[in-house]
Amino acid sequence: MNFSEIAKNRQSCRSYDESRAVERGKINAILESARLAPSACNGQPYHLTVCEGESAKAVAKATQGMGMNKFTSSAPVMLVISEKPYVKSAAIGAKLKKNDYRSIDIGIVSAYITAEAAALGLGSCILGWLDDAKIRDICALDAPVRLVISIGYAADDEKFREKKRKNIEELVSFKG
Ligand SMILES: Cc1cc2nc3c(=O)[nH]c(=O)nc-3n(C[C@H](O)[C@H](O)[C@H](O)COP(=O)(O)O)c2cc1C
Repeated sequence: MNFSEIAKNRQSCRSYDESRAVERGKINAILESARLAPSACNGQPYHLTVCEGESAKAVAKATQGMGMNKFTSSAPVMLVISEKPYVKSAAIGAKLKKNDYRSIDIGIVSAYITAEAAALGLGSCILGWLDDAKIRDICALDAPVRLVISIGYAADDEKFREKKRKNIEELVSFKG
């Protein structure tokens, strides 16, 4: 798949085939693409924790508060993205320019992860509805958990959905 095909094919997967484990080689390929993501001042202000087995189940539960995200129980892998401190130059830039570069960087690395997962034939879903304290405890992290990404092979009932997006005129303006 070229990038346009990946962009068209990737969707948030909300039903996983529990009987199908994700090969370690594919996890490694996802992590390698994540490693190459750009970030402000190349600071890479995040840490990735790959949860499988019992810890994936526990993290899944911690994304299900108030009846949300029930589908994560079927995901064989839960990838936890926690925030690390800025490098000095990015911290100065963020302060002077009043911009939250860490959130931006975490968004970009998430996009790389989900795009690589799609390229490898895997389903994924970015999860922002999560219990920070519980996941920190499960993963022994001392930094805020910002996003979790569920990863696995899509189950047969996961159908391709037409993308609903702003039309290009609303999304974009050109200036001469
Ligand atoms: C920061 C962020 C947080 C999200 N949190 C959740 C979530 O907690 N649960 C969920 O089912 N989807 C979540 N999503 C997925 C979005 O709902 C989804 O990307 C959007 O509706 C577009 O659909 P698509 O990914 O299938 O193209 C999140 C996406 C992002 C980028």
